[in-house]
Amino acid sequence: SAMRQPQNEGLLSYGPGSPEKAELKKKLQELQKREIEIPLIIGGKEVRTGKMGECIIPHKKDHILAKYHMAGEKEITMAIEAAHQAKDEWERMPWEHRASVFLRAAELLSGPWRSTLNAATMLGQSKTAHQAEIDSACELIDFLRFNAYYLSQIIEEQPNSTQDSWNRLQYRPLEGFVFAVTPFNFTAIGGNLPTAPAIVGNTVVWKPASTAVYSNYFVMKLLQEAGLPDGVINFVPGSGSKVGNMVLDDPALAGIHFTGSTQVFGDIWRKVAGNLRQYKAYPRIVGETGGKNFVLAHDSADVGALATGLVRGAFEYQGQKCSAASRAYIPQSIWPSVKERLLDDVASIKMGDVENFSNFMSAVIDGNAFRSIRSFIDYAQESPEAEILCGGQSDDREGYFIRPTVIVTTNPRFRTMEEEIFGPVLTVYVYPDQEFEKTVAQCTETSPYGLTGAVFARDRRVVCNLEKQLNHAASNFYINDKPTGAVVGQQPFGGSRASGTNDKAGSKLNLYRWINPRTIKENL
Ligand code: SER
Repeated sequence: SAMRQPQNEGLLSYGPGSPEKAELKKKLQELQKREIEIPLIIGGKEVRTGKMGECIIPHKKDHILAKYHMAGEKEITMAIEAAHQAKDEWERMPWEHRASVFLRAAELLSGPWRSTLNAATMLGQSKTAHQAEIDSACELIDFLRFNAYYLSQIIEEQPNSTQDSWNRLQYRPLEGFVFAVTPFNFTAIGGNLPTAPAIVGNTVVWKPASTAVYSNYFVMKLLQEAGLPDGVINFVPGSGSKVGNMVLDDPALAGIHFTGSTQVFGDIWRKVAGNLRQYKAYPRIVGETGGKNFVLAHDSADVGALATGLVRGAFEYQGQKCSAASRAYIPQSIWPSVKERLLDDVASIKMGDVENFSNFMSAVIDGNAFRSIRSFIDYAQESPEAEILCGGQSDDREGYFIRPTVIVTTNPRFRTMEEEIFGPVLTVYVYPDQEFEKTVAQCTETSPYGLTGAVFARDRRVVCNLEKQLNHAASNFYINDKPTGAVVGQQPFGGSRASGTNDKAGSKLNLYRWINPRTIKENL
């Protein structure tokens, strides 16, 4: 019968003198003491190719945490074969047994593994302790527990039978294997994309982002310790296009669970379309991609809440959340007071090494990100249509640091109001109060994306209208809160339009995509 709904994992605070802080500090030191070698894990076995990539610390870029083996053609073939070999037994296993592997992983992560995975995420992805805790501890634990719970609910749903016929639905996994492609910015997404299809009975080839191989390797080890059978999830870091092209060409490809750029997702669709006649079945394609998330304020907004929402939404984790606030529409009448709060708050932001727990921000992920973000700031600096209100400085001598930057523009269609930057850059368009309706229309019509968005207003009538008017502008829509920080089981997460297929991560809706149901009617 269905499991009880899990509670969300409680957040540890890492306050001064707390035992969790002491433990985490110890792990941070331990992990930096020795460079490790990361193999591929295929069919449960370590595989070495000798073609190496490096995992560095983005805020101390000369420090190498690990060297990892990269998959070549042979290993990709092996991984697909291992997924095939493991499928039958895994699929036939009672769902409770499959679920128990992931529930056990959640227990281990809630306990002894917590500091290790948080430390790995802090170092490899430059997350502060708090940002790591909400990601690699709480969110990942929640994904594992809630997916087990949702599966238990799905399995109970059965069609009606009659006196003469017994009808049933079999919740089979897909026929073939699932390809999970995961991003650098959330270790929890790294863990969720391969495990969600797996809990349903699929086997998986998992390609982690090159810039998150370090923490993701620990996730793989955690799953193995929790009893994941060999070959159910195969860990194959490597070049995205090399691994991707080979995997997408395989006739047994049955599903893709992707988080990454809109562009790469488009490439995947085109590749799949070209291969369509070779596949046994239409592959399920689930993707979460880019965004250009808005904060829209009405003149009735609470200025303090708005400023806090902007700063946290735009700058936590250096703005590298797909949900990050990156364009804002603020009415002229309240702009002077919002501006004052923003300037104060941003000036007080401390940035640096994640080992100093009072830092609110650290480095962006790598040199490519640094240069790309920098180029948007330079563009704004040179444009007569924009002004840098604060920030704009960057320094990549030790690590990839970019100060939180606020651009103010007179053009609601300014480049940084429209293009995804994926860094700590917020662009504000100050609109004349009497043009509120026009601005609302601009907010939804000028963007191809539909991931997250937030509105700030105290007037309830305005809130109700905005909820309607911005219907497709954001599939995670926030009222009087920042647009980031969705919690599993509370705000199912995903975007539509160019932001993805909106198959809400950590929800029943997502799990259904990995199921290939069979309806059976038996006459009695
Ligand atoms: N789920 C994250 C958030 O809501 C983004 O991936 O911020």
